[in-house]
Amino acid sequence: MTKQKATNVTWHDGEISREDRYSILHQRGATIWFTGLSGSGKSTIAVALEQALYKIGKLSYRLDGDNVRLGINKNLGFSEEDRKENIRRIGEVAKLFGDAGVISLSSFISPYKDDRDEVRELHEKAGLNFIEVFVDCSLAEAEKRDPKGLYKKARAGEIKNFTGIDDPYQAPVNPEIHLKTDVMTVEEEVKIILDHLHTNGLILQPQFTRADEITQSAAL
Ligand code: ADX
Repeated sequence: MTKQKATNVTWHDGEISREDRYSILHQRGATIWFTGLSGSGKSTIAVALEQALYKIGKLSYRLDGDNVRLGINKNLGFSEEDRKENIRRIGEVAKLFGDAGVISLSSFISPYKDDRDEVRELHEKAGLNFIEVFVDCSLAEAEKRDPKGLYKKARAGEIKNFTGIDDPYQAPVNPEIHLKTDVMTVEEEVKIILDHLHTNGLILQPQFTRADEITQSAAL
């Protein structure tokens, strides 16, 4: 756990509660945490899920490894310590999004079990839902896909500490959802996650069923 550095700081509640915010959004905030090897399909599934949620009028926001590393975490690399800090900061950001009422879709390799467990604990202590999704794909398949050509560079020794090559990946032991992306389609994967959200009451009532209805109501 990262130590609290500033002293004499206390949390200040406002007049509008989390439940108040959730009620205007007709949804509960939650964090869907995708973990898996580079190239396993985390971002692809998050993009498809974001679309599916939008179509039923639900607000989600993607927090993506590469995007976040270009901004809030631009000062972090890929050492164990930096990966830990990367995940800690995203965990805190996701927690704020969840408190606001947004379903955040976090796609980070997040290779260390302890780091993911800390994010889970952070959410549980705050009474927020944390759904760990293991985006399971064999190294052989991820390397075959190699969408960014990074495995090739890592094999050639041009990238150091590359997950799966010369850096570890610790698979989740008991994730809420386990997707095997070398055998499932993206549609099947999205459906499994949506079913989980429905079953667990995170999507209270669909306000819209089709994107064109959203457009129509926006035009009114
Ligand atoms: S994490 O380990 O800290 O969770 P994160 O998901 O943010 O990683 O970033 C991984 C992405 O950074 C990969 O998809 C890849 O595009 C890029 N990358 C660059 N160097 C490395 C590396 N050494 N190991 C893993 N990914 C890397």
